[in-house]
Amino acid sequence: MDIRKYTFPPHGDDRGQLVAIEEMKDLPFDIKRVYYIYDTLADVVRGHHAHKCLKQVLLCVHGSCKIHLDNGHETAEVLLDKPNEGLYIENDMWREMYDFTSDAVLLVLASEYYDEADYIRNYDEFKKFIASKESEN
Ligand code: TYD
Repeated sequence: MDIRKYTFPPHGDDRGQLVAIEEMKDLPFDIKRVYYIYDTLADVVRGHHAHKCLKQVLLCVHGSCKIHLDNGHETAEVLLDKPNEGLYIENDMWREMYDFTSDAVLLVLASEYYDEADYIRNYDEFKKFIASKESEN
């Protein structure tokens, strides 16, 4: 599976670090929405969904967590543990987020506004959705 990670260069000096991310320059989409996840309890698994259109970049800006990716054929596990590293997740990708450290803050940059109609929250439906798209091509 093609895992696309971005390393955003920190503007470090003797005061510390600063990371800037600009839409369409540092990411392949316009940022319509930002959200973040924190205070995640141990053993919690979030996500369990795919998106029909939405594209996202996930950064664990503090602490660490893991992301399980599934494109319908292959799976991968990605560790996010650097505040300047982003994981690009395209549409049509099942994802689960887990193994959050208690101090983890997962920042998400998203290409679309929140839209429940864009979600596929059932794994069997996701597999059917992928199969029907592939049969069209
Ligand atoms: P949920 O989809 O369960 O989060 P995750 O996929 O990370 O497990 O979202 C939790 C709640 O937050 C749910 O009621 C929907 C709401 N929500 C918004 O209102 N706006 C958003 O941008 C997101 C991502 C979720």
